[in-house]
Amino acid sequence: MHGVYVHVPFCSKRCDYCAFATFTDRHHLTTAYFDAVRTHIARAIDSGMPTATSIFVGGGTPSMVPANELAGVIASIPVSSEAEVTVECNPDNVTSEMLRIYRDSGVNRISLGVQSTVPHVLAALGRTHDVDNVRRSVEAIREVGIPTFNLDVIYGAAGESLEDWMTTLADIVDLDPPHVSAYGLTVEAGTPLADDPSRHPDDDDQADKYEATDDALVALGLENYEISNWSRPGHECQHNRLYWLQGNYHAFGSAAHGHRDGRRWWNVRTPDRYIEMVAAGDEPESSSETLSPEVRALEELQLLVRMREGVPLDAFGKQNVAELDGLIERRGDRYFLTRAGRLMANEVSLRLEAAGTAAVQSR
Ligand SMILES: C[S@@+](CC[C@H](N)C(=O)[O-])C[C@H]1O[C@@H](n2cnc3c(N)ncnc32)[C@H](O)[C@@H]1O
Ligand code: SF4
Repeated sequence: MHGVYVHVPFCSKRCDYCAFATFTDRHHLTTAYFDAVRTHIARAIDSGMPTATSIFVGGGTPSMVPANELAGVIASIPVSSEAEVTVECNPDNVTSEMLRIYRDSGVNRISLGVQSTVPHVLAALGRTHDVDNVRRSVEAIREVGIPTFNLDVIYGAAGESLEDWMTTLADIVDLDPPHVSAYGLTVEAGTPLADDPSRHPDDDDQADKYEATDDALVALGLENYEISNWSRPGHECQHNRLYWLQGNYHAFGSAAHGHRDGRRWWNVRTPDRYIEMVAAGDEPESSSETLSPEVRALEELQLLVRMREGVPLDAFGKQNVAELDGLIERRGDRYFLTRAGRLMANEVSLRLEAAGTAAVQSR
């Protein structure tokens, strides 16, 4: 398995909860940026980059860039015959014409940033689309014949009642998606949202909304395969699974993160700098870290416990596991989070860190 992540650092408007490396004033760099991305990819291929089993074009807003630019980048990456190729799209910019260009370049999965279908919640999140854009986008994906898609939703925005969230859930269930990623709104440092405590989400409210989400999606026939991700069998996101299973992936574009066998690196943050460095023949890496085997093993536990796979019995000391009673359960030769555990995943993670550290150190 080998992944490729391509970052598109452009958005038309900045959502005030978002901490991703994206810019609203650099669109003039688009052509130079994708030239640099293709050059960077060509160099990696020359240096022996393996054939990709998944490509994820994320952002930012990939769908606001001319479809031909993205198609050119995607077509330049050697992929296996079964590769999953995803492009993140905002419902505002999706057209059938654009999706046909994507499809013809090998894209077989769209991830759509829906967030909510309730107008005042979308307004609170600073989003510009409405539910009709979402419906039109899903129709276009189906009509063009892109075989699978994801809907991203966020719960816990300021002013969102449980009833509002139930409306969003009913609307997305109506669209019969094969995959849903539902995230609790997270307060990211350095964002305008972080500076306004009156809009910060409430833990109990988010827990109620998580349970409602799980109920609605399981009733639709989707399975929870990672805390925040539900899919029909066979529609799990292979690229995200590769991240969670600590696989290797290349990173192209500004601020993109890569990983190979315990070494992680990330590219320079701005598109301007990225273009300059690639043009100068330099590797546009900003920094890197190499994880010790102990830290990798610990991360493996923390990632696995969030997944349907669960963690092997011998990963933790017995005493610590008993303390987590009610939050994790044993089935066969593995431990899994209970639904209560999924609601308290951060707490479980902290406790697992302690339990796992002891177990990993005693190996
Ligand atoms: C990087 S965004 C790119 C997709 C696209 N630009 C959009 O916003 O629709 C990927 C997803 O991350 C999620 N996201 C971004 N910031 C978040 C936050 N602070 N809390 C929870 N989810 C967030 C949103 O669901 C979003 O769809
Ligand atoms: S949430 Fe999406 S559209 Fe909004 S600023 Fe972040 S990347 Fe751009």
